[in-house]
Amino acid sequence: MKDEIQKIIVVENLTKKFGEVTAISDVNFWVEAGKITTIVGPSGSGKSVLVKHLLGLLRPTSGSVFYRGIDIFRLDDSQIYEIRKNFSLLLQDGALFDSMTVEENVAFPLTLRKFPKNTIRERVMFYLENVGLKNFARRYPSQLSGGQRRRVALARALVTEPEVIILDEPTTGLDPITTENIEALIINVKKQKPETSFIIITHDPFSAFKMADNIAVLFFGKLILFGPREIVKDLMEKEKLVFDIFKRANISIIEEFRVS
Ligand SMILES: Nc1ncnc2c1ncn2[C@@H]1O[C@H](COP(=O)(O)OP(=O)(O)O)[C@@H](O)[C@H]1O
Ligand SMILES: [Mg+2]
Repeated sequence: MKDEIQKIIVVENLTKKFGEVTAISDVNFWVEAGKITTIVGPSGSGKSVLVKHLLGLLRPTSGSVFYRGIDIFRLDDSQIYEIRKNFSLLLQDGALFDSMTVEENVAFPLTLRKFPKNTIRERVMFYLENVGLKNFARRYPSQLSGGQRRRVALARALVTEPEVIILDEPTTGLDPITTENIEALIINVKKQKPETSFIIITHDPFSAFKMADNIAVLFFGKLILFGPREIVKDLMEKEKLVFDIFKRANISIIEEFRVS
């Protein structure tokens, strides 16, 4: 018997224009529950714009986003707000609050949701330990390295224990060793949370393949490849697109693999 894939998010024919600029064009894909989906593509290919639609932070020019079968753009603002509680988003430039300690930064989403103080402290310490920063709770962001700040932001994204965690370029701008540490950390966190769905955005194909169960490749706003990691990898290798697809990409070759 064929296992049915559980699709927690389904994107249909999604197009977003900003005036003359088409940021994403007719994108179709889904997010499989409990898996890591990576969205990979060069800078400006529409990755951030795409994920902002998943939480209803941007409204599409046309097309739909379904969360657990619900067409989110048919909801009113308060209903979208309720759905958003099932997500956490680590923004690409997701800065920490400089005036707050590490502990206060990580606690922030729980404080907003008025969790009891004891629960907040327990959860915050649990996730700070998880990212290896338990002893840094009382420090301020300015006293941390770039990699440590990213780990604090990661803990802040995890602390609400949402169904879907979206990490927009969690390693961009970090050195290779720090990048590897953060990738390993993400894979490890995912192992501990088998039911959580992760969407990880990166412009680095190596990083995308390292972490993904499923991969979506965006190029100039179009989704040119989407599928399980091994299949996407095979297709790229067969066509000698391998990993430097973005530099050498011949759009007419890749177009053949466009997911309809
Ligand atoms: N708020 C906006 N207003 C106008 N253009 C935008 C806006 N946000 C994104 N864009 C444009 O949409 C395209 C895709 O952007 P983005 O999703 O941020 O790319 P990526 O995250 O892949 O680097 C870019 O051309 C960008 O300039
Ligand atoms: Mg981006």
